[in-house]
Amino acid sequence: MNLDRNTEPPKRKLLLGVSVAFVIVAAAGSIVLYATRDWNAPAAAKNLQNPVPIAGDSLEAGMKNYSTHCQSCHGAKGDGKGERAEKLSIAPSDFTDAHAMGQMTDGELFWKISHGRRPMPAFQEKLTEQERWQLVDYIRTLARKPAGGAAPAANSGSP
Ligand code: HEC
Repeated sequence: MNLDRNTEPPKRKLLLGVSVAFVIVAAAGSIVLYATRDWNAPAAAKNLQNPVPIAGDSLEAGMKNYSTHCQSCHGAKGDGKGERAEKLSIAPSDFTDAHAMGQMTDGELFWKISHGRRPMPAFQEKLTEQERWQLVDYIRTLARKPAGGAAPAANSGSP
């Protein structure tokens, strides 16, 4: 019986040690995950050329699909404040942020729309390629224009 008392505590200690280690690993894991949340499309996807020219009918089609599939999260104005946004673990991107949008190529936007990333769904099975390019064209129109007369950004090489 004395023997029992002597053997049990180490077991419990071991169990405690294992649980503590588990908690630490889980915490470190989520920190790493959080820190590496940068969402980068593969280089080949970034260089994809947009085959759908920005024109009245492509924008109109893009707008229709946007209001059906994207607006609930990204918001009617594209500011990321859709009605579902608050309940998501990650805030939907703000398409009115001209600077952030300027950093991404059409190919990159297309790839992100196609593949999604939790909580954003993937759309490659739900929408045709044409429809996804139309969405790229449409969300580009949501970027706020720079305030009246503001000098263009020094590094803006795009039209
Ligand atoms: C369920 C909510 C939800 C829906 C629906 C949704 N998104 Fe998203 N979207 C997000 C979230 C959240 C992110 C940020 C993901 C991240 O950073 O990990 C995001 C990111 C993006 C990005 C990447 C922008 C960047 O800065 O990297 C694009 C482009 C995008 N969404 C387009 C769309 C389009 C187009 C649709 C509709 C076809 C759509 N999304 C539908 C939630 C959603």
